[in-house]
Amino acid sequence: LRTAAVIPAAGRGIRLGPGAPKALRALGGTPMLIHAVRAMAASRAVSLVVVVAPPDGAPEVKHLLDEHSLPDHTDYLVVPGGDTRQESVGLGLDALPEDVSVVLVHDAARPLVPVETVDSVVGAVRNGAHAVVPALPLSDTVKEVEPAVVPGEPEPVLATPVRARLRAVQTPQGFDRDTLVRAHAEVALDGEGATDDAGMVERLGEPVVVVPGHEEAFKVTRPLDLVLAEAVLARRRA
Ligand code: CTP
Ligand code: MG
Repeated sequence: LRTAAVIPAAGRGIRLGPGAPKALRALGGTPMLIHAVRAMAASRAVSLVVVVAPPDGAPEVKHLLDEHSLPDHTDYLVVPGGDTRQESVGLGLDALPEDVSVVLVHDAARPLVPVETVDSVVGAVRNGAHAVVPALPLSDTVKEVEPAVVPGEPEPVLATPVRARLRAVQTPQGFDRDTLVRAHAEVALDGEGATDDAGMVERLGEPVVVVPGHEEAFKVTRPLDLVLAEAVLARRRA
């Protein structure tokens, strides 16, 4: 069972603020994307990494992969991405060779996921789960609201789900290839697209299971996340 990791890295990183596409910004002097690629290739199970580059950035990303040292038990492919994360993942799936039967989808924006998390997701798929997501319990209580039309206006609360039953999902999410390809083929592109691949599999009516995630698999989304990521990296290097 050959396992491939698809890394969507085509986003702009609007919430991080002005600058280069998020995946190409430096973390400890190395592009975030390179950390994410190394995190996938760190797993002995992963024999192919498909990077989905910003639409006009594939040559630059190929060059980056060539100039950084990467494990050589893994092959690397670069394809241009699309307007939404969902489209970018779909374009990555289209590039998979036939002999791949297990697919991980991992955000370039989660550069510090530990190999233990990658291995436990792969392990759960190899043990027969068709869709596996790493996730953590929440610290904050979550409320469902009626979103304000004018930003900043007070928003009426509709419900407070029981916190103990909620999980914040991370990546890599792992799939039996046929299940994920079917989800991408059958679940329509609606506006923003899906924010998570397992959610598309759920919409097929197929079961999805959660395994323990890791605090260091957090997504770099806003400027404060970059501060935390730099600190985690500095601690690892100490
Ligand atoms: N992504 C992608 N193609 C897109 C949009 C997002 O490949 N058209 C990727 C991002 O590069 C990122 C992952 O999906 O690795 C998770 O998305 P997110 O954290 O939202 O990143 P961005 O979309 O870049 O950030 P923002 O939403 O703040 O613009
Ligand atoms: Mg986004």
